[in-house]
Amino acid sequence: MLEKRRYLHGYVAQPYTATLVITTLLLCCFTFWMFIETPRVQLIVPDEKLQPSYILLVPDNVSSSTLQQQQQQQQEAYSLNNLSIDDETRLIDLNDFKFIINHDLCNKTEPLLLIMIHTAPKNYDKRLTIRETWGKKTSDIVILFLIGATDEYHDSIIEENKKYNDIIQGNFIDAYKNMTYKHVMTLKWATYYCSNTKYILKIDDDVFINIRELIDFIKHNLSPWGARRMILCDPLPPSAVKRTYRSKWRVSPQEYPDRNYPGYCAGYAILYSPDSVFLLYREAQKLPYFWIDDVHITGTVAINVNLTHDSLHSYILRHDDMIKLIHNSNYQHKSFIFGPPDMTEDNIKALHRISSNNTT
Ligand SMILES: *[C@@H]1O[C@H](CO)[C@@H](O)[C@H](O)[C@H]1NC(C)=O
Ligand SMILES: *[C@@H]1O[C@H](CO)[C@@H](O)[C@H](O)[C@H]1NC(C)=O
Ligand SMILES: *[C@@H]1O[C@H](CO)[C@@H](O)[C@H](O)[C@H]1NC(C)=O
Ligand SMILES: *[C@@H]1O[C@H](CO)[C@@H](O)[C@H](O)[C@H]1NC(C)=O
Ligand SMILES: *[C@@H]1O[C@H](CO)[C@@H](O)[C@H](O)[C@H]1NC(C)=O
Repeated sequence: MLEKRRYLHGYVAQPYTATLVITTLLLCCFTFWMFIETPRVQLIVPDEKLQPSYILLVPDNVSSSTLQQQQQQQQEAYSLNNLSIDDETRLIDLNDFKFIINHDLCNKTEPLLLIMIHTAPKNYDKRLTIRETWGKKTSDIVILFLIGATDEYHDSIIEENKKYNDIIQGNFIDAYKNMTYKHVMTLKWATYYCSNTKYILKIDDDVFINIRELIDFIKHNLSPWGARRMILCDPLPPSAVKRTYRSKWRVSPQEYPDRNYPGYCAGYAILYSPDSVFLLYREAQKLPYFWIDDVHITGTVAINVNLTHDSLHSYILRHDDMIKLIHNSNYQHKSFIFGPPDMTEDNIKALHRISSNNTT
């Protein structure tokens, strides 16, 4: 800038013209600076929106006196007739899909909550930990584990399911890059076999849930009659696609051409309303396969069907708070619904002990 000023003084005849030029220059710089700075400020995504984007149902929506209202209520969250004829045997681009292991657990009850746990065949210990801690049978809640096809664990999965009656298995190969098949299978199962549930929670097999707090949250902060257009989760802001070969999450431009992902939900805990599940399912069946399931379903697909997500962030225990809770018996923490992501089995057991003691 100083260099420029000297240059202007030397060559421009009248000093006030120089002042004018400098002022204009400064103004330009400032405007440019504003342009650069403003979007960066806007990129900070607020944690909790003031106005949620979902609708909570009230008894008026559900119970009705006249026949006409009852018929309206039949339309409810969605209608299976709105799916294409070959939909049942299709999973995205797989044309011979079927459930190898299935259950009709929702026919007998009308669950408040269906919990669908994504798990790899080899993770027997993780499943057992959940069954023995927060996942003990409770009325009102259906808990299922979702698995793909596996040679190595074929027999043991059958045995495990015989014993616990809680495994749903699809016939696509269970593999890391097949996560999106699993997520869409979850949406498919809920759509076809559990349309009467009020809420659907998709989680991973290394998550702790404070079930009592979750039910309390659903009944009092949400609605026991259900909701519409809901995706509640730990939201992640838009981020750059990982292109380096070192990354576990490397994605090639062929797999995903854009440089950035849209905002999406961290996949370890996502609470859906049934209509959201249906809309996401129907759209996911039409779109090309993309293997990072949380980006795909709660980002790309959600945008396509005009669904947005709301934050559960303040109900998730932070990792360092979990460590304090487990190792310091005097440490008090406000109530939480979910443990941090990627928990060990020991930590799940420890949190379960602590939260069971607190509520008695
Ligand atoms: C349920 O009823 C409330 C108030 O009566 C209304 O605002 C809301 O839009 C209704 N929701 C649905 C999904 O019909
Ligand atoms: C079902 O599809 C018809 C026509 O495609 C549409 O008018 C209707 O709104 C759809 N219903 C639902 C619940 O999506
Ligand atoms: C359970 O419900 C599904 C679909 O809602 C139906 O196809 C199936 O036949 C039912 N099973 C039983 C045992 O009633
Ligand atoms: C994903 O599943 C499909 C269908 O079973 C299979 O053809 C494909 O090889 C699987 N992908 C991986 C990476 O194993
Ligand atoms: C998307 O949602 C917004 C807000 O709910 C609504 O105003 C808009 O009409 C919707 N657009 C479509 C295509 O459904």
